[in-house]
Amino acid sequence: MPDPTAPTPDDLIGPLSTEERARLGSGRDFWSTEAIGNIPSIALSDGPHGLRYQDPERGGDALGIGPSIPATCFPPAVGLGQSWDPELTFRVGAAIGREARAAGVHIVLGPGINIKRDPRCGRNFEYYSEDPRLTAALATGWVRGLQQQGVGASLKHFAANNTEHERMTSSSDIDPRPLREIYLHAFGHVVREAAPWTVMCSYNKINGVYAAQNHWLLTEILRTEWGFEGVVVSDWGAVDDRVAAVAAGLDLAMPGADEAGDRGVVTAVADGSLDPSVLEASARRVAALAVRATGSADPGTTWNADEHHALARAAAARCAVLLKNDNDVLPLAPRGRIAVIGEFATEPRYQGGGSSHVDATRVDIALDEIRAHAGSATVTHARGFDTGSGSAAGELRAEAVETAARADIAVLFLGLAATQESEGFDREDIELPADQVELLHAVRAVQSRVAVVLAHGGVLRLAPIVAAADAILDAALLGQAAGGAIADLLFGITAPSGRLTETVPVRLADVPAYDNFPGEQGHVRYGEGIFIGYRWYDRRELEVSFPFGHGLSYTTFDYADPRAVADPEGVSVTVRVTNSGSRTGREVVQVYTGLEQSSVLRPPRELGGFTTVELEPGAAQEVTVRIPRHEFARWHEPAGRWVVEGGEYTAYIGGSSRDLPVHTTVRIDGDVVRVPLTRESPFSEVMANPVAGPELGAKLQPLIGDQGSSAGAELGVDMARMIGSIPIGRIALQLGGLMTAAELDDLLSRANS
Ligand code: BGC
Repeated sequence: MPDPTAPTPDDLIGPLSTEERARLGSGRDFWSTEAIGNIPSIALSDGPHGLRYQDPERGGDALGIGPSIPATCFPPAVGLGQSWDPELTFRVGAAIGREARAAGVHIVLGPGINIKRDPRCGRNFEYYSEDPRLTAALATGWVRGLQQQGVGASLKHFAANNTEHERMTSSSDIDPRPLREIYLHAFGHVVREAAPWTVMCSYNKINGVYAAQNHWLLTEILRTEWGFEGVVVSDWGAVDDRVAAVAAGLDLAMPGADEAGDRGVVTAVADGSLDPSVLEASARRVAALAVRATGSADPGTTWNADEHHALARAAAARCAVLLKNDNDVLPLAPRGRIAVIGEFATEPRYQGGGSSHVDATRVDIALDEIRAHAGSATVTHARGFDTGSGSAAGELRAEAVETAARADIAVLFLGLAATQESEGFDREDIELPADQVELLHAVRAVQSRVAVVLAHGGVLRLAPIVAAADAILDAALLGQAAGGAIADLLFGITAPSGRLTETVPVRLADVPAYDNFPGEQGHVRYGEGIFIGYRWYDRRELEVSFPFGHGLSYTTFDYADPRAVADPEGVSVTVRVTNSGSRTGREVVQVYTGLEQSSVLRPPRELGGFTTVELEPGAAQEVTVRIPRHEFARWHEPAGRWVVEGGEYTAYIGGSSRDLPVHTTVRIDGDVVRVPLTRESPFSEVMANPVAGPELGAKLQPLIGDQGSSAGAELGVDMARMIGSIPIGRIALQLGGLMTAAELDDLLSRANS
């Protein structure tokens, strides 16, 4: 319960001088804000797959690169996203919230919700998906979970920060429609649905203007359109011009202290170039955050490392994706001889490098966990390759091949080492290291049953390995309990149910941003527009290795009886799902929508919504996916707003973007869009207007007589189509001399009213 006698943010900033208000807008040091007057300091710390808190009393440093206190390392977003489970992201967020609260941290810097535009982006492991709706749903759960613990989130990196190359200066050049539909969509959703306490603006420019100094982004979109009431924090070092940043709506420049920036703000207020009310509003927001954050803090909070590890393990098991499983080589039987091969079986790769790196409380080793589950099986191990020095590749391979030859099945742990991908740089390719591919083929030559477990933060090209493996379990990065979770899945103690959140392309050259990544000469041109991820591959009918949404289980599911019903608030899609196999399993039921007859360019199908259902063998259940009406809206550039196009939509339902066994249709009424007519409006548009059309037709009649659309036959043209796109101003005033300028303006204004 808020204390009614507590001072309000206005009480707190009222007595502050301009200097103090300016100081409130930059940090005190790397991880905390200034305490001024009665406004307390608050602590911010990295996340978001665990707490990276550099306790100042335990060796915290001024640059944010030293060790942090032990914390549970949950699956990073690349793994967590594969759960397709907002309830799980809620629980993980809540656990991180408890750890943060116990450490005295008020704001955890996450979640990262940038869209995975290109698989080469070095930071993709920190993001959820190539799809904005899936990203939105997962991040909403995480933010709600964290904030339920009285700890604030920082939704980042706002916005369009999709490459690491020159990330602090490059301009993401994006047209309005992809910007709105793809890159801002999840931010808007999470702001509205989960009200994060803070939003972190990104380093890059958007269409030439730094995000940190972008009034359109930080004020017009974030606050005015979406109703954000929290604090906008800069990414660390993102502010180039502090006065411009304050004027744009940035509240807190991090890290601190930024004394020169503070002085600049004071001078700008004094010389009239910065409106003092803008600084005041910003200071009020920082004060409100400090009061709220310290008010809900409770350093007496405790958490149990075993319980959090158990949650990390359950979460990880839900996140791995079984990409293939020919001849049911998985699950493993707890008998016979199992050869475990690969460095990652003993030296796990479970998180990414950079600001999100967590000092884990403990780390499960897959080989140990496999042995613990193996029953009477003999488990042997060979290192197979060395990601560090790459030395003795031949010897390591020979030893692994021998180990595999003496077993009944070989399980290979392959992937990328921490040095091969991280924050701060992009990858140049999406290949698995060549020595690992060779190792797999050498093992395959002597062993007829081969399973591969993959560890990586960014998408890997799997075409070179798919045929050589009977089973592939894509473990992405699964956090500190990855080893235990992988063993649980390999032995079928848990049924695999993760789903891909990104398409696995056949070739790098197929990816949507192939020619426009990572950009050059300071610009990244988002030339592929709205066609990101599966939207691109589906539109171009490209073959992929594994589609978005794909993931197998140890059972199978059938779909029947699809129905869709529209109402004014949205569409409900219902389907009957049956577990047609012999094991219990969890299915992620995905609904994609498409509008074939559309007036704008669209992908054939887009994820509309999803839900999950757990079923025992033979059991069936009706499930309903609700798609709110606004999810059918597209950004209408001429009208400058969201518009739902009316028509007959198809809802495709199934277990992946390319496995959609049933579909149904639903009619949706469209929004009325009236783009005001101007002298530049095309002739055809003016003719379609109920007021202007008939009047203009009457004026044209004497010119073309009764010929109608056959006018122009002598020229071999369809006159109506030929002149349809000519601006009415040119036709009426210059070409046809139909009326005076005043008459035309009067006609247009009557048509517009
Ligand atoms: C990263 C942020 C991070 C911040 C603080 C920046 O370099 O982009 O994601 O929260 O540093 O470590």
